[in-house]
Amino acid sequence: MNKRTVVTAFAGVLALSVTVVAQAPSLTIEVNHPTTKVSPMLYGLMTEEINYSYDGGLYAELVRDRAIGHGFGALFHWTMVARGNSQVNISADESTGPSAALTRSLKVSVPAATEAAPAGVENDGYWGIAVRPRTVYSGSFWAKTDSDGIPVTVSLENDQTGIVAAKTTVTGLTGEWKEYTYTLRTGEVPVTINNHLILTVPRPATVWFNLISLFPPTYHDRAHGNRIDIMEKLAAMHPQFLRLPGGNYLEGDHITERFDWKKTIGPWVDRPTHPSPWRYRSSDGMGLLEFLEWCEDLKIQPVLAVYAGYSLAQEHVDPGPALEPYVQDALDEIEYVIGSADTKWGAERVKDGHAAPFPLHYVEIGNEDWFDRSGSYDGRFAQFFKAIKQRYPDLQLIATTPVKSVTADVLDEHFYMPAAESFAQAHHYDNHPREGPKIFVGEWATREGDPTPNLEAALGDAAWMTGLERNSDLVIMASYAPLFVNVNPGGMQWATDLIGYDALSSYGSPSYWAQVMFASNLGTEVVQATLANTATRVYTSVTRDDAHHKLFIKLVNATSETLPLAIGLQGGDKVAHSAKLTTLSAKTPNATNSITNPRAVVPAEQQIAISGPNFNQRFAPYSINVIELTY
Ligand code: AHR
Repeated sequence: MNKRTVVTAFAGVLALSVTVVAQAPSLTIEVNHPTTKVSPMLYGLMTEEINYSYDGGLYAELVRDRAIGHGFGALFHWTMVARGNSQVNISADESTGPSAALTRSLKVSVPAATEAAPAGVENDGYWGIAVRPRTVYSGSFWAKTDSDGIPVTVSLENDQTGIVAAKTTVTGLTGEWKEYTYTLRTGEVPVTINNHLILTVPRPATVWFNLISLFPPTYHDRAHGNRIDIMEKLAAMHPQFLRLPGGNYLEGDHITERFDWKKTIGPWVDRPTHPSPWRYRSSDGMGLLEFLEWCEDLKIQPVLAVYAGYSLAQEHVDPGPALEPYVQDALDEIEYVIGSADTKWGAERVKDGHAAPFPLHYVEIGNEDWFDRSGSYDGRFAQFFKAIKQRYPDLQLIATTPVKSVTADVLDEHFYMPAAESFAQAHHYDNHPREGPKIFVGEWATREGDPTPNLEAALGDAAWMTGLERNSDLVIMASYAPLFVNVNPGGMQWATDLIGYDALSSYGSPSYWAQVMFASNLGTEVVQATLANTATRVYTSVTRDDAHHKLFIKLVNATSETLPLAIGLQGGDKVAHSAKLTTLSAKTPNATNSITNPRAVVPAEQQIAISGPNFNQRFAPYSINVIELTY
């Protein structure tokens, strides 16, 4: 027991010595007193094209600006290659392209070249192209030429050493636009990040290219799929859903720049690409079907956000007839996701290569419509709500701000907070009314650290998540945002992102690890747990999985002191004598992970002795802890 002596003097007349007995910090857990069920959907993912999340991120394409000329300057990532005495000019040609959607091309004019001194063009990838040994890369391009039969040599070459990691030649080019495929195989080459993709011809010719592409092996071997390292990190988070496709990316700055899903499906050559509000153009390689397959690969559900007639530059569509085409577009989109092959858009999905419908239970109407100063959301939401409910009565519809004309099933609330606020808001939902819609915390983060959050942020996140768990009768889903950042200079538009990467590797921030710990140790019911005599900045949530007799005690000690805690398990007479304690901590709250030091702050596991239903456990300063014990 801690004792503290306080001496108080009254006007110099009387000195009184009082002994104050400080109570020991304790946590009382009523193992057999569940307060509510844990929402099985509680933890999920939120995504959008921001910080080079897909292009230059999860989407494994290695070639940047593959739909030619969509960088900030024409041909920003394409440069000339002229070996020896060869000559070359490259330009963006607006007069010819492979399709109605892609009407321009990369024109490579080679007035002089030989086998020994070829000429052509190279691409620098997304801050480099990673090369690994014994790896098969799958490539393709669209091309036409004025010199029938001109061979195009494709190679992966190191910027500094000039070492060619892999090389092949594509033949058969003609004067007609056509798609060609190729394969590059590396041998015993070192792992490097600083490579270019080079395409050359060995004699004078002009070749027009578009959609030059190269993919490394992908997660689950999907053609044109996702990066393995990043998908593995997502899988480790045990998510239940993916909120897609945004975020502001859904809305666009202007109505014409919204996520127009019909322009993101089918062959790439039919995808025109589009500007994103995050100041770079999206290739739309990650189109609607790719989002859904991403869900499928992780065995999670999509939470589909449909465009609802508001874009960020205060452009909106009035409810009524003007909005009808957008409502129809949303109905078509839902049909593409869940319709059978005998529906128009279900058949389109089948044609695109996915016969089975996807599971869909939640549809969100818009994004952050509180920004719409016209006040049109109530009417817009009601119009979407009625049309979708009429056709799909079982779908749960999510509003992005409170509405009055109809009753939304779920309300999406967003919280971006400094750590102090995350701590202060850890009890935000404890006394929240239960009569209204369920809550989806569709975007939230503690914003400390850049580009990825530090331990202080993770502590704030963990404190906040204890509140989400305790209140998961009300908060049925939650997803951190943003999920990704390419950490290269110019890669980030929004600081404090969960997972960072470059062309070669990726890492989880301390906040990422906090999410892994919370979602991997989620019981099925919340049980009554009472902290007493602890300092501020100590938080808990306790859940159990009664079928498996597991108790998960989450304890966040965000103070600078070790916390000795007396833990009492009421009703835990059969508790096992040892338990697993997982801890994420560091000496300072500024500690963090980075691309060069990716594992500075990672969870550590240990077995701890449990003396009985009443036991003592010490928790490190600045620590997030989960005790998993069997009762
Ligand atoms: O997560 C970054 C942005 O924050 C999202 O695009 C938007 O919905 C929110 O304002």
